[in-house]
Amino acid sequence: MRVYLEVYGCQMNEDDASRLATILEEGGCMLAESPELADVVLLHTCSVREKPEQKVYTFASRVQRLKRKNPGLVLGIGGCVAKQEGRALLERFWGVDFLFNSYSLHKIPEHLRALRELSPLVTPKTMLMDQPEGFEESLFPCNNKTHGPTAFLTIMQGCDHKCSFCIVPHVRGPEVSRSSRAVLMHAKRLIGQGVRELVLLGQNVNRYGKHTQDIAFPELLHELDRIPGLERIRFTTSNPTDVDGSLVECFASLRTVCPHLHLPVQSGSDRILGLMRRGYTRKDYLATVERLRRARPDISLTTDLIVGFPTETNEDFQSTLRLVEEVGFDSSFSFKYSRRPFTEAGKMEGHVSKEVKKERLAMLQDVTQRIAQKSLLKVVGSSQEVLVEKLSKMSKEELMGRTLDNKTVVFPGKPSLVGKIVPVLILEALRHTLKGQYNG
Ligand code: SAH
Ligand code: F3S
Repeated sequence: MRVYLEVYGCQMNEDDASRLATILEEGGCMLAESPELADVVLLHTCSVREKPEQKVYTFASRVQRLKRKNPGLVLGIGGCVAKQEGRALLERFWGVDFLFNSYSLHKIPEHLRALRELSPLVTPKTMLMDQPEGFEESLFPCNNKTHGPTAFLTIMQGCDHKCSFCIVPHVRGPEVSRSSRAVLMHAKRLIGQGVRELVLLGQNVNRYGKHTQDIAFPELLHELDRIPGLERIRFTTSNPTDVDGSLVECFASLRTVCPHLHLPVQSGSDRILGLMRRGYTRKDYLATVERLRRARPDISLTTDLIVGFPTETNEDFQSTLRLVEEVGFDSSFSFKYSRRPFTEAGKMEGHVSKEVKKERLAMLQDVTQRIAQKSLLKVVGSSQEVLVEKLSKMSKEELMGRTLDNKTVVFPGKPSLVGKIVPVLILEALRHTLKGQYNG
C-alpha cells in the first residue's frame, strides 16, 4: 500500500506526522510522493485559525476529484479539523473514509488493511478518535529516524486553560502527559541516534506532569540535563502563567537549557488580556520577563500576538505596540483574530472589522520586524556556537544551523559539519536569518 501523507499546522502536528510515517512503514506501507501515486491519502490538519482550516477543505476536494477516477483511493483526515467537525466532515465530503486523531496513529495500518479487504463501494465511514487518559507508547516508534541532529519530542498534549479565543482545548482535549520514564528512554534513544538537541513539545509544555503522580516539568528538565551527549534543550509552548520560579531557575542552572523562550503574550492591554482569559496582566508578564532576564541575561524572548480581538480599541492596540517595544522581542508571530467555533470569544459582541484588523496587523508587523532586525544586527561581528542542522535550502554549498538563542544562521561549509556544534563568525543580518563564516 502506498500512502501519501500531508500535514498542516504546528510543530506538534509535524511530530505526529513524522511518527505516523514510521508507524506506516513498520506496518508494511510505502510512502508515496504525491496523492496521484498513492492508494491512501492521509491529511493531518490544523484549525487554530480559519486560514489553515480552509486549506484542509481545498485539499480534501482535490483528493475527492482523484477518487472519481480511482474509487479505491482511501482518504483519512486527522487532527484538529477532524475533531472540530466530526461527523459533519464525513457528510460534507463523500470521499473522506475515516477520521483519526493523534492518539490513534498506531491503529492506522491495521485500519487500512481492514479497509482494503472491503470493496470500495461499501467502505464504511469510521472514526478513530480515542481520548485516553495516558499516552500509548506505541505512538512513539523506536525506529523513527526522520529527524536530523535536532529532534522533536512530544511529552504532553492538550490544554486545560480556556483562553477565550482558542479552539485547542476543544480539539486537543485535556492535558495528558507521558510518563517521565518513557520520556527519558525516548530521549536517550534519540541521543543514541545522533541527536544533539531536543525540542520538547506540548500545547502547554510546562504543565507537563500536572495530572500524574510523576515529576513536574522543571524536574524533567533536570533529569534530561544529566543525559550525556545531549547538548541543547528547547521547549514549546509555554503559557506565561505557568512559568514559575523553579522553571526560571532552570535557565540559570542547567547546562543544556538554551537561552530562548517562546512566551506568547497575545496582547498588551489588561482589558483585552482579561477578556482573553489569559490569567495574567501586562505587569505580571513584564515581571516574568524580568525574572527570566535576571536568571539568564542573554535569554532571547519570542512571542505570539493577536490583533483585533473582539472589542479591541485603538487604545488597546497601542498598549500592545508599547509592550512589544518595552520587551524588545527577538522575533514574534502576529495574527489577525480569527473567529473560531466552540470558543467563548466567538460568541462575544464587538467583532472588529476585517479592514481594521488588516491595518493593525501591518502596523504591528512593522514594529516587530524593526525590533527583530535590531536583535539580529546585535550579533553581527560576534562568533556564535551554531548547531548545524542540514544543508541550506537555497544552496548545496551552504549549511543551515541555529545559535544557542535560536537564531537561524546560513554559512558556506561541508556537509560533514552537519550534526556538529561549530563556531561561526556572523557577517551579516538578513530579514530573518544571519549570514556567517565557519570559524573553526
Ligand atoms: N499553546 C499553543 C498556542 C495555541 S495556538 C501552542 O501549542 O502553540 C498558537 C498561536 O495561535 C497562539 O499563541 C495565538 O497567538 C494564535 N491563535 C490561537 N487562536 C487564535 C485565534 N482564534 N485567532 C488568531 N490567532 C489565534
Ligand atoms: Fe490555547 Fe490558551 Fe491553551 S492559547 S492552547 S487555550 S494556553
